[in-house]
Amino acid sequence: MKVSIILIALIVVVLMVVVDVDGARHRNLRKQRNSRNRNQTSAQGNLGASTTQDSQGASTTQDSQGASTTQDSQGASTTQDSQGASTTQNSQASSSTAADPPPAATNTLSPPSNLLSNDICKNSNQPSTGGKQNKGGSCSDTIQGQIPSVENMISTIITNPQNGDTIPANEPFNVSVLTNNLDLGFFDNPQTQYYAFPQSLNDQGQIFGHQHVTIQQLSGNGPPDPQNFAFFKGLNDPSNSGQLSVAVASSAGPGLPPGFYRICTMTGTFSHQPVLMPVAQRGAQDDCIRVNVK
Ligand SMILES: *[C@@H]1O[C@H](CO)[C@@H](O)[C@H](O)[C@H]1NC(C)=O
Ligand SMILES: *[C@@H]1O[C@H](CO)[C@@H](O)[C@H](O)[C@H]1NC(C)=O
Repeated sequence: MKVSIILIALIVVVLMVVVDVDGARHRNLRKQRNSRNRNQTSAQGNLGASTTQDSQGASTTQDSQGASTTQDSQGASTTQDSQGASTTQNSQASSSTAADPPPAATNTLSPPSNLLSNDICKNSNQPSTGGKQNKGGSCSDTIQGQIPSVENMISTIITNPQNGDTIPANEPFNVSVLTNNLDLGFFDNPQTQYYAFPQSLNDQGQIFGHQHVTIQQLSGNGPPDPQNFAFFKGLNDPSNSGQLSVAVASSAGPGLPPGFYRICTMTGTFSHQPVLMPVAQRGAQDDCIRVNVK
């Protein structure tokens, strides 16, 4: 009796050791496999979109030959890897579509976990945004709201002037903008309702919002200071065609003083947030051009 109890106990101990060794071996294999997958992801990311496996093991396939749109012969297509470096492909290659989620990112960072919460403002020392444009910063707990479908993503082009144009100094000119899929003319009070409401959609699934034109003088190759701009105007009127236009003037009078300028659109929601799109991989919602004023 005693002997058989001791024997059974011994067998159990041996089994536990074997199971643990096996478990550790499996954990190691899994770690290696995950690490290899991550390395593949980043290697393929550099070549453009391809088959990747995210860290949770769900596999996303992005097929540049299958679900893809062919661009015209002038537009060399570009794809973007998960780190944002863009690769230009030859003109015969087709561009990738935004059909699939971007591959899991590698070598990225994450803010402290206590900031990754919808309760962020409860634990923040910053004042509540409270509908105001707080120059010292603030914390907004407005939710993000309604997100359009990919068919209703916003796309904008500046139709006048043209990129690279030379414009006579101090003479009036209009900036004309064509915006797709933005229900224009929606503009709440920026003094009391700034970021106060979530993004919202009309019955066609398009974002309620408005457009802006912002112009900055460029000097050197660095990013311009966003606090300095030569011209800024909200394009707040409704427009069924998506076309809006504004006459440019500065404190010196009509047009712009001589210089090299960047003219950009800045699409906004009813409550002035930057517009939120349904997928990460897509074309830009705004346009910028550069002009020489002399
Ligand atoms: C993955 O890449 C890292 C850094 O390039 C390297 O140290 C590691 O050995 C690679 N892992 C595998 C499984 O290839
Ligand atoms: C700018 O647009 C307005 C309104 O359409 C028009 O009357 C004006 O002539 C335009 N200005 C120039 C310089 O084209």
